[in-house]
Amino acid sequence: MIVTRAIRCSLLVWCARPVAGAWDARYTETGIVNELGSRLSEGAGIVLKGEDGFKEKTERWQSWKSPDVAAVVDIRYANANNIPFLAKSGGHGAISSLVKFKNGIQINMRGLNSISIAKDGSSATLGGGMKGKEIIDFLWAREKQTVTGVCECTGHTAVVLGGGHGLLQGFHGLPSDQLLSARIVIANSTALTASPTENSDLFWALRGAGHNFGIVTSLQYKIYDIDGHPGGKTWSYKALAFPATPENVRKVYSIAESQLDKQPEGMMQYSLVMTNPQVSPDPIILHHVVWNGPLTSPLATRLTKAYHELKPLGATQETGTYLDVARWMQVDADGTVCNTQKMLPGAGVIRFPVDVKTYHLDALVASIEKFIKLTKSVAEFSGSFMMVEQYSTHTVRDIAAKDSAFASRDARVLISPAFFYPSVVVESGERNKALDKMALQYGQEIRKILVEGAKKSGGSHAYVNYAFGGESEKELYGRDKIEKLRMLKRVYDPENRFGFYGPIKSAKKSKGHNEL
Ligand SMILES: Cc1cc2nc3c(=O)[nH]c(=O)nc-3n(C[C@H](O)[C@H](O)[C@H](O)COP(=O)(O)OP(=O)(O)OC[C@H]3O[C@@H](n4cnc5c(N)ncnc54)[C@H](O)[C@@H]3O)c2cc1C
Ligand SMILES: *[C@@H]1O[C@H](CO)[C@@H](O)[C@H](O)[C@H]1NC(C)=O
Repeated sequence: MIVTRAIRCSLLVWCARPVAGAWDARYTETGIVNELGSRLSEGAGIVLKGEDGFKEKTERWQSWKSPDVAAVVDIRYANANNIPFLAKSGGHGAISSLVKFKNGIQINMRGLNSISIAKDGSSATLGGGMKGKEIIDFLWAREKQTVTGVCECTGHTAVVLGGGHGLLQGFHGLPSDQLLSARIVIANSTALTASPTENSDLFWALRGAGHNFGIVTSLQYKIYDIDGHPGGKTWSYKALAFPATPENVRKVYSIAESQLDKQPEGMMQYSLVMTNPQVSPDPIILHHVVWNGPLTSPLATRLTKAYHELKPLGATQETGTYLDVARWMQVDADGTVCNTQKMLPGAGVIRFPVDVKTYHLDALVASIEKFIKLTKSVAEFSGSFMMVEQYSTHTVRDIAAKDSAFASRDARVLISPAFFYPSVVVESGERNKALDKMALQYGQEIRKILVEGAKKSGGSHAYVNYAFGGESEKELYGRDKIEKLRMLKRVYDPENRFGFYGPIKSAKKSKGHNEL
């Protein structure tokens, strides 16, 4: 066993009843318990389907295209028996390639949730299974901060592995830009360090295409003094609602476009196009501006004034600290978005991301019109939304694109139509196949309008952490990076064991599943 004891000791292990006949006859319930039980470290456990805790341990953020989990063990055991395996941290991954994971072993990373700050205070060691909120709260209590995703309930490692986006990226770069080194267990069960000086090619790949290369058990990660940010602890936001008429869409995003260069490091603009019957029976644009500083900040006042002049249906504002922002944006741990399956069991969410350098207003107007038309035509799609995110990119763009595998470094706006609907009928457990199909078709039609528009304004990519799975490898990883990634797959994962999340097709025949 090459995986170190420390790692094995902290992995929690969960197991479901294997489907009859799918595995060797030896893998009956008792077979698994007997064989694995003796090999597991203290603190690791096996939970069988139907037993207490199984549902919670395997529950995911949404229900479209879920992996089918059977058991959890160490990688060598799985390889020896040709069983697919998949890490799970926050369970927010939502990409169609996950459905290729059949009757496999889930490696529950949540046990790796320790965090400690280095003596010099400039970095922290993070466990590979931590959620955003655990990092934010721990650091905040020690007057520190770092770049994490905005959402409190997503797993942090996967955010980093896909490149990542977060509110502090204008100051410090992307989440993946904070990575100093990672401990990773690769497919042949070897634990390696990836850093600028050790396995530097793997380090390059982990920052943007990382889901393809192994299981990350810990991260050395840059952190910062809260004091070092101009707005200190104070954060503010405004949310303004406008009827989503074509005319308003053009006006709102013309303003957003005109602010792409003026938006300060500590600001994010973000909107949802959706129907909220409490505000209006017709679709609205709910535009948020969030910034580091007080409500009275002169620059923020000037920038938000332009939106107020459009005479919104309504507006709200709040001021507080960084710890309040996730709640304002409704992605706090206790909020509805983080608890989608509790609020609406069986809900599926499919996003169709297009990352662009700048707005193509004609395409945006046309895509939103189409989104509204298509989601209105099917009652089950009424909770769908279109997301437009305008993060600050100052420091992000100071870093050379070739320095990491992340493909969309020059993207300034992320546009993501998202279909939200009952993907699984809870009572029967049956899939709503007709709706799945319609959501996929409609989403791609809308996405196509945006991609075509972007061709005239600098091109587009697709953020792998939002991807639905039908995007090309070039869209996910970049035309200029894919060959190097293929080469690295042949070195670090020749059998393509890590082929379930935005898979890079390696030259060799796959033992994982690298087709959509
Ligand atoms: C509500 C919501 C809000 C979001 N907000 C943001 C945001 O603010 N910024 C942003 O950048 N993204 C955001 N995302 C996207 C997010 O990056 C992805 O959903 C990501 O996959 C979440 O990871 P997870 O650990 O929760 O999911 P999981 O499904 O557990 O993991 C996703 C993938 O990563 C792999 N993985 C997980 N842990 C490890 C590990 N330790 N080592 C190796 N592989 C691992 C899994 O095997 C899987 O393939 C958001 C998503 C949602 C649903
Ligand atoms: C595992 O793979 C790495 C990277 O290809 C290689 O350096 C190492 O020798 C391999 N170890 C074993 C035990 O096969």
